[in-house]
Amino acid sequence: MDGNGRWAQRRWLPRAAGHRQGVAVLTPLLEAAGRAGVKTLTLYAFSTENWERPESEVKTLMRLFLETARKKVPELNERGARLRFLGRREGLPGRVLEALEEAERLTAGNDSLDVYIALNYGGRAEIVDAARRMAADGVPPEDIDEEKFARYLYAPDVPEVDLVIRTSGELRVSNFLLWQIAYAEFYVTETLWPDFSPEEFMQALRSFAARSRRRGGV
Ligand code: FPP
Repeated sequence: MDGNGRWAQRRWLPRAAGHRQGVAVLTPLLEAAGRAGVKTLTLYAFSTENWERPESEVKTLMRLFLETARKKVPELNERGARLRFLGRREGLPGRVLEALEEAERLTAGNDSLDVYIALNYGGRAEIVDAARRMAADGVPPEDIDEEKFARYLYAPDVPEVDLVIRTSGELRVSNFLLWQIAYAEFYVTETLWPDFSPEEFMQALRSFAARSRRRGGV
């Protein structure tokens, strides 16, 4: 959800205002995703690298996550969305983790749309954590293959990613779902996240649908 800071800067507003606007666009987008038949959507809300930001911004973001959970989770639950947390649990403020776990419990029985919130998430951290857990389980090296490895990722049921949407014109992967994006298609737009609309989301889906995916074949 990139470009919140720049969106605010262009309006002479504090960066927090950009993050708030970033939350405001979520509901219409999730509705559009549901209508379009998308089954899984992952939102990259906070990376393992985002702790490097000024303490005041990190605090603002953590407060915003809590507030967003309080406001949006009941609404998402009513719409049948299943919320899942994706990331390193250690290091997150207790209240944020509790809110995420509560949202997971509340929505566990829903099946219209799976929404993963990547928070304190890093693709490399996820791979390292999987390797550690496998070693702790004493998995013999000869038993390790791609399928087995994937079972040790944070959420083994995250399907392979079809489409990555990158806002604000960044041409980087930024440590996002490194394992799962092996064959993902990319849609990059100059639009800043707070301006990203359901119409543009549909445009991204149409662009995806028009591509031919060879996955290494011909
Ligand atoms: C990146 O833009 C955005 C973030 C680090 C925070 C995104 C989080 C939200 C919008 C809150 C959503 C909450 C949930 C629980 C889904 P940036 O600050 O890097 O912008 P810039 O690149 O313009 O500086």
